[in-house]
Amino acid sequence: MREIVADILSKHVKLGKKKIVDLIEIPPSSYLGDYAFPCFSLAKIEKKNPVEIAKEISSKIKSDEFELVKSVGPYVNFFINRNHLAEKTLDSIRKAKDRYGSGKDSRTILIEFSQANTHKSFHVGHIRATSFGESLSRVLEFNGNKVIRANYQGDTGMHVAKWIWCYKKYHSKEELKREEPWIASIYVEAVKRLGENEKLQEEVDEINRNLEEGKDKELMSLWKKSRDYSLQAFEKIYKELNTRFDKYYFERDVEKRGKEIAQELVKKGIAEISEGAIIINFEKYNLGVWVLLRKDGTVLYSVKDLALAEKKFKDFKLEGAIATIGMAQFLHTSQIKKALELMKFSKAKDYNFLHFAEVRLPSGKMSSRTGDNILYSDFMKEITDYAKSEILKREKVKGKELEDRALAIAISAIKYSLLRQHSNSVIVFNKEEALNFEGNTGPYLLYSYARARSILRKAKYKKQKLSIRAITDDEKMIIAKLSNFPEIVRKAYVDLSPSTIANYAFQLSQKFNEFYHSNKVIGSDNESFRLAIVDSFSIVLKNALSLLGINVLKKM
Ligand code: ARG
Repeated sequence: MREIVADILSKHVKLGKKKIVDLIEIPPSSYLGDYAFPCFSLAKIEKKNPVEIAKEISSKIKSDEFELVKSVGPYVNFFINRNHLAEKTLDSIRKAKDRYGSGKDSRTILIEFSQANTHKSFHVGHIRATSFGESLSRVLEFNGNKVIRANYQGDTGMHVAKWIWCYKKYHSKEELKREEPWIASIYVEAVKRLGENEKLQEEVDEINRNLEEGKDKELMSLWKKSRDYSLQAFEKIYKELNTRFDKYYFERDVEKRGKEIAQELVKKGIAEISEGAIIINFEKYNLGVWVLLRKDGTVLYSVKDLALAEKKFKDFKLEGAIATIGMAQFLHTSQIKKALELMKFSKAKDYNFLHFAEVRLPSGKMSSRTGDNILYSDFMKEITDYAKSEILKREKVKGKELEDRALAIAISAIKYSLLRQHSNSVIVFNKEEALNFEGNTGPYLLYSYARARSILRKAKYKKQKLSIRAITDDEKMIIAKLSNFPEIVRKAYVDLSPSTIANYAFQLSQKFNEFYHSNKVIGSDNESFRLAIVDSFSIVLKNALSLLGINVLKKM
């Protein structure tokens, strides 16, 4: 539609079509029309009053596509011909169904996300990282691209050495356990003990060296087993969160190449030896000093990332790679970018990072045995229990049905509240707020969907050819919103922002609920047309939720 508006305008104004498309706005209120064209830029060029220009342009436009084109101050406002709009929108939604709004780009892009470290907890921040990465992948796929979902798990390095040290020294009589809370607790204990006695670090360093060398059979079998338990615990979480990966990278797999790169960088004069360690001095770029290898020759997180960048492009034919990563690692990623540039890595420009901010909890509300981190399992249990109590307030449900519904609602609440905010805003997760069935929440969206499906069920709705009579303002409003979906999908894609979809899904559901509230659907003399609106709404909302990685429920 935006294109059509731009085509018409381009006949009357002296601006390129692309420029016009960029200038076109969607007015804040539908009383001001469906699209608006501001005349300020033209006023500057033509040295005329924008109000005059708007008047002039609107008097010239004649088109069947619009029932009204009028100027309001410095804007030309377009009111779409509602019959055309309804026919086009409802037909294409009901025809395309779950493809409505999809695009046709065809790049291959690797998205790295989630990246929890083995031997540590999977915490609320990882839920954000996982939900965000999954949604981003879906948005890219929906726009036609091939996405390779990649995880990069820290399965070796100093944190693992600390874990193994603590287990061997204080827990070796205990059998290894598979449960995430137990695994995480050993690491927390290690940190605590090392904090109390600095000298102990020497023992950890030795384990770290042996681990890297990989010759101590007993150590390696302990490493392998505990690593695998961690990874299996993560897989359960991924399944619950509706995520899967096409490719797993492990720090262990880039250690060797990382070390080689460090040596190569010394030869090229990019890195240098300083007090026995290998470093890159980035001070002239204001990026500090980056340590690649420690004095004892062991490799750091830093240079492993350079090996990882190489590996991604070797493994796949990619048009781009994006790693989503916490804001706390902003300096680290700037150092990676700089190093790749200095190394003249041919894909440096296609290797990008997308940062997201942290998740906090209202203090004191949720503490966990492990201190600051809230473990996934504790968190999920708390939210699911709360969801159960909310369901039981409304309905008598039992057993598996209650469990399944509570979990779906809890996940929608968590994912939506994490995704509706822009990646760079800090989120304070509040469970009462996130689970409010009437607020800007996941459950509200699921509820709106279930309501639409129940109307269709009750009416025994079957898709029919549209019969359009006079269209009311309420009807037009929701149809116009539905017609915006493809544009929203495109915007989320260009901006890499799932929050665009989330906010749209909420506004759409609000419009639907308003519409349903003040318009009789079943039994009205416009029943079949209104059912087509309800059907289209359910299709579009389901698409939007699916892009957020949220499954719908037929019943709430
Ligand atoms: N495993 C790392 C951590 O927990 C995150 C990895 C981010 N990705 C990367 N390519 N460095 O801090």
